[in-house]
Amino acid sequence: MTSPRYVVLVGPPASGKGTQAVRLHEALGLTHVASGDLFRENIRNETALGMQAKSYMDRGDLVPDDVTIAMVLDRLSHPDCAAGALLDGFPRTLAQAQALDAALGAQGHAIGAVPYVAVPDEVLIERVSGRRLCRTCGASYHVTFNPPHTPGVCDVDGGELYQRDDDRPETVRTRLKVYHDLTSPLIDYYHEKGVLIQIDGDQPIDRVTEDLLEALRSVKEG
Ligand code: AP5
Ligand code: MG
Ligand code: ZN
Repeated sequence: MTSPRYVVLVGPPASGKGTQAVRLHEALGLTHVASGDLFRENIRNETALGMQAKSYMDRGDLVPDDVTIAMVLDRLSHPDCAAGALLDGFPRTLAQAQALDAALGAQGHAIGAVPYVAVPDEVLIERVSGRRLCRTCGASYHVTFNPPHTPGVCDVDGGELYQRDDDRPETVRTRLKVYHDLTSPLIDYYHEKGVLIQIDGDQPIDRVTEDLLEALRSVKEG
């Protein structure tokens, strides 16, 4: 059994991309590349890129394509991505998808599989309101669905858990609209390329992981 080397997780905000990516990384060894995590790391480190991204993120809008594409392609050029990567949150527009195809194509690679984690909007709102993140390592929890062993404390490194600035209800509504307007066209784009795999993301976390692993293991190496 093999699994594809370049995998793109597509799904609405709070569908569980980050939660599942950590588990898929453990199971498949692919490096997890999450554009939102890269932006948040830049904000923490107060870089110019972070300052530029923050205003867009706080509103729930997308960071402009040129900035985002440059950041993610740079990350993919690091040695730990030479054997493939698990992309989470990128691409999110058709222009980003085309730029990624061009960059991988130039190296003789292609995207092997695109799991689309489908979750209804009303479930997403509930997930966002209970989400907590670790300040130190970015690990994601949910107060009800995926609680840490000790409330407010990260299981991995003891870091303090906090609520993301863009998880406020009004910002979440903007993020959902942006997803439906700009990101959901990627579902057709990847379907036409024959790499889309629909996964029911409205199940317990372990079941979603099982479905993802089963789907990815049945795909030939890309
Ligand atoms: P980003 O960080 O990518 O946010 P997002 O896509 O909105 O997705 P989330 O991280 O909110 O959700 P997730 O799917 O990872 O869910 P999670 O596993 O945490 O982007 C943030 C911002 O950065 C964007 O708005 C934009 O401004 C900018 N940005 C990023 N990438 C960009 C790009 N490519 N182009 C332009 N701008 C970009 O799970 C959510 C919660 O639910 C957790 O609490 C979790 O514990 C819980 N949960 C997960 N699975 C389940 C389950 N099966 N059952 C019950 N609870 C569950
Ligand atoms: Mg995420
Ligand atoms: Zn942590």
